[in-house]
Amino acid sequence: MLLVSCVVNVNVIHGVDVNVDSPPPPPPAAVRLELIHRDSPKLHGQNDETRSVHHHDQRQRWKELHRRDSLRHHNLLYSRRRRDQEKESDSFQMPMNSGADYRNGEYFVHVQVGTPAQNVTLVADTASDLTWVNCKHGCGRNCSISKGRLSSKRAFRADRSSTFQVIPCSSHMCKSDLSDLFSLHRCPTPFTPCTYDYRYMQGSAAIGFFANETLSVDLTNGKKGELHNVLIGCTKSIDNVAGVRGADGILGLGYGNYTFTTNAASEFGGKFSYCLVDHLSHENVSNYLIFGDCSGSENTLSSSKRYTKLVLGGKLRSFYGLNVLGISIGGILLKIPSFVWDENRGGGTILDSGSSLTYLALPAYEPVMDALEKSVSKYERFSVEQGSPFEYCFNSSGFDEASVPRLAIHFEDGARFEPPVKSYIIDVADQEKCFGFVPVIWPANSIIGNIMQQNHLWEFDLVGKTLGFAPSSCT
Ligand SMILES: *[C@@H]1O[C@H](CO)[C@@H](O)[C@H](O)[C@H]1NC(C)=O
Ligand SMILES: *[C@@H]1O[C@H](CO)[C@@H](O)[C@H](O)[C@H]1NC(C)=O
Ligand SMILES: *[C@@H]1O[C@H](CO)[C@@H](O)[C@H](O)[C@H]1NC(C)=O
Ligand SMILES: *[C@@H]1O[C@H](CO)[C@@H](O)[C@H](O)[C@H]1NC(C)=O
Ligand SMILES: *[C@@H]1O[C@H](CO)[C@@H](O)[C@H](O)[C@H]1NC(C)=O
Ligand SMILES: *[C@@H]1O[C@H](CO)[C@@H](O)[C@H](O)[C@H]1NC(C)=O
Repeated sequence: MLLVSCVVNVNVIHGVDVNVDSPPPPPPAAVRLELIHRDSPKLHGQNDETRSVHHHDQRQRWKELHRRDSLRHHNLLYSRRRRDQEKESDSFQMPMNSGADYRNGEYFVHVQVGTPAQNVTLVADTASDLTWVNCKHGCGRNCSISKGRLSSKRAFRADRSSTFQVIPCSSHMCKSDLSDLFSLHRCPTPFTPCTYDYRYMQGSAAIGFFANETLSVDLTNGKKGELHNVLIGCTKSIDNVAGVRGADGILGLGYGNYTFTTNAASEFGGKFSYCLVDHLSHENVSNYLIFGDCSGSENTLSSSKRYTKLVLGGKLRSFYGLNVLGISIGGILLKIPSFVWDENRGGGTILDSGSSLTYLALPAYEPVMDALEKSVSKYERFSVEQGSPFEYCFNSSGFDEASVPRLAIHFEDGARFEPPVKSYIIDVADQEKCFGFVPVIWPANSIIGNIMQQNHLWEFDLVGKTLGFAPSSCT
């Protein structure tokens, strides 16, 4: 199906049994998780509330996507500032999660948690560093978490899993390693579970405790693989605003020592990849998230694959940072000040599968818009509807993509990402196209969102710290 290179790769080693427990063998196969879009029929029946409310009104949909992205972006900046303040004072932590409003998460995955395995549906989010599930666990007197309310009746029954291992609050892991994941310092007895308190906007929260657990995943060779000691949050209490509408929790795909990504990738060659189909394709068409090496086979994909450095850790925390050099249109490098791309000077660029739109810091946004405007000046410009994320829209009747000079994002190491025109001059409504960039006031990170990433394969090598990308139909 998708990612032909992986499937070919797997055929070669077909029949190799996978045991990721004790001594890790060379990566034998890859893990494949289907990324199920919120609107996919595959989620229906199971949970009709997942469906996009505004699915039928195209313009509304863009406003909704933007609203969601903005919350996410705001939280990213806000949580960073907050974290800096926390470092200065020793006061009780009341942290703010970088994740935003998950009720409208875009992609879902089915995962099996615990032993025996229980099915859960999680929101896949590259901007989140904690994986958590709504969870029931009789942790008795050792547990100081007050009885809370779960927004969903479905929950992972931790007390029925033989592999569920509570992380004690007295452990080094709790006191030090997990402080980035908002562990609390409360520790009445050494065996009390290590708790977290994720604060969202509007004062809502997800509260629970950390545990190691076994996750079962489907492998590309059709077998089952197990991931051991995956850190998960057992969320005991959650309020509706923080709720993950239609899902049981979050699959944290961010970068970090205890994220699902790092755990899964370490068992499967240090790599994960995804390929996002055109965002306007039929809702039955699937994307996949693959953990494992997909680069072994020779095909057209690998011949056009480009590589650039992944900036991991540091200022951009659990996000996937890129070293952008500049943006060109029609082969001409635009005049954009270099500090825009520098994460140490308030800028920097993130590749984020969880944002839909692409956000450019103002000093980059303006030159890009100016240059694009010239190429469509012969089309009638529309005045912008209130609430629309886009500033420049035009009557696209008779529009010819071939007449638009191509935009390219250049990386410092020479690689160049040339998205298809439809990824940045996007269909917003019938006979209406808009420039798919949204300005953010400086200082800010620029964010390459998932529409800009469509029709490309993205391969994250966490060990080699490189990002490989290549055009692909993803089908
Ligand atoms: C979990 O999902 C798998 C398919 O992904 C299915 O075969 C299995 O029966 C499900 N198990 C439960 C307990 O629902
Ligand atoms: C509480 O912790 C102690 C020490 O590990 C353990 O023996 C006991 O079983 C725990 N109680 C519960 C209810 O988990
Ligand atoms: C949880 O897993 C980590 C490895 O990711 C390990 O270092 C730690 O000892 C485990 N803790 C428990 C309580 O199982
Ligand atoms: C991961 O662990 C290493 C060493 O254990 C530490 O140096 C590094 O800061 C940690 N990274 C994060 C993001 O916590
Ligand atoms: C999409 O999926 C539904 C249900 O699985 C099916 O009835 C329908 O024919 C599919 N449509 C296409 C275009 O494949
Ligand atoms: C766009 O232009 C075409 C041709 O000039 C015209 O027929 C159509 O009504 C215009 N569409 C809108 C939405 O203004």
